[in-house]
Amino acid sequence: MDAQALTRDALTAFAQANRQAFEAELRTLVEIPSVSNDPERAGDIRRCAEAAVDLFRRNGGEAVILETTGNPLVLGRFGEDPALPTVTVYNHLDVQPANEPEWTTAPFQMEIDGDTYKGRGTTDDKGPALAAFFGCLAARAAGVPLNIRFLWELEEEIGSPSFQGGLEKHRDLLGTDAIVVSDTVWITRGKPSTPAGLRGLKGFRLTLETAGHDLHSGVVGGAARNPLTELMSVVAAMVDGHTGKVKIPHFYRKVAKPSRKELKEWARSGFTVETFRKDHEIHSLRTDHPLKVMKRIWGKPTMEVHGVVGGYTGPGIKSAVPPRAEVKMSCRLVPDMDEASTFELIRNFVATHFPDVVVHEEHGLAPFKGHVTGPYAEAVKDAYAFAFGAPCCFTREGGSIGAVKTMEDVLGCEVYFLGLSLPSHGYHAPNENFDWEQASGGIAAFARYFQTVSGI
Ligand code: BES
Ligand code: MN
Ligand code: MN
Repeated sequence: MDAQALTRDALTAFAQANRQAFEAELRTLVEIPSVSNDPERAGDIRRCAEAAVDLFRRNGGEAVILETTGNPLVLGRFGEDPALPTVTVYNHLDVQPANEPEWTTAPFQMEIDGDTYKGRGTTDDKGPALAAFFGCLAARAAGVPLNIRFLWELEEEIGSPSFQGGLEKHRDLLGTDAIVVSDTVWITRGKPSTPAGLRGLKGFRLTLETAGHDLHSGVVGGAARNPLTELMSVVAAMVDGHTGKVKIPHFYRKVAKPSRKELKEWARSGFTVETFRKDHEIHSLRTDHPLKVMKRIWGKPTMEVHGVVGGYTGPGIKSAVPPRAEVKMSCRLVPDMDEASTFELIRNFVATHFPDVVVHEEHGLAPFKGHVTGPYAEAVKDAYAFAFGAPCCFTREGGSIGAVKTMEDVLGCEVYFLGLSLPSHGYHAPNENFDWEQASGGIAAFARYFQTVSGI
């Protein structure tokens, strides 16, 4: 292929010719259980980094493992001409655990069912990483004059604790004109969207201990404090379980309202509540008003309870008063909130009203405000329209990617998004999947994107 020949038809043919290779590479990556939150999987994290290096080298690229104080980074490189522009593609190869009982196949074996690829990590984020990779091979085969780099992280799913240190350590190797991240979801199939912002995250735990061991509720009940019941009332004082509204004073103080222009863009994004519910298999929502749903998932902060530890969880009931309990919680944060002052509000609120409850700080990620204008943003829009025949709009993402703000801060360049996942692919869910329509379209979108940005 020459650069003039990067037509839509030629890219369809390229994708088709490489379908088997794409599937084989995806299988190799999915079948390495690179679960970053499990210390026992450290060997698999390492094997996954080595498999990625091997992938680049087998396909004519250069690659190195960049060590950090935590999990390694992989840097793959195609082209090193200082006279040419450089673009870096970010993905992560670590995955969530896959213990959900609803899996109908083994999560770390890739099942191919027609056009669907099933397994943990297929859509978050190994499939999109490989679509970008094959898009690069198409662009290189066509002689697109661009240095293309891949930065693949292996601890995104635990909040990127060593990423900043790793970037600073290897900064000399990582200079780039722009970064494109492929780790976000569309509105739904056929409706591409790219985020103008991401939510941040602040995790914390509440614990309370009121006795040394289980107590007989007949003997001491009524007089003894019950830590589970008390923590439930602490949570209820912090957040309204029905509306989701956080009751801690000043919690919403720094929330920047989405602009009129943004709201207009959301309204024409094609988002519908019915599709949202179907894609995520949600039975009912806190509101059925589409703009209110969009504001809630993209424009507002949250406070969630993720888990409660304590007491008896076996069959039937056991009438003990538990001695201790724990609640695992986090808040999603939006611009212009920050992790530190949000956590201080929470800690002070609990300390004032429930002095015996201990608040334990967990990791935090800042919210991110993206870029919606300029040649790189236009290149993303053009790539989606070209590859998928559908206009894309700027919405936001409710999720968090710790690396994004860190890359802007440390590498001093802007980050854009060319995501390929669909809500129905089931991020972090049982039976996670990716599909050939998104993969082959993604290959074409990336090839086109590389061609466009080579001229910036
Ligand atoms: N790819 C997601 C981020 C994301 C989620 C983007 C939803 C768009 C929509 C990423 O892999 C992820 O899951 N991030 C975690 C980070 C956390 C564990 C620190 C998240 O958002 O919970
Ligand atoms: Mn991801
Ligand atoms: Mn994820």
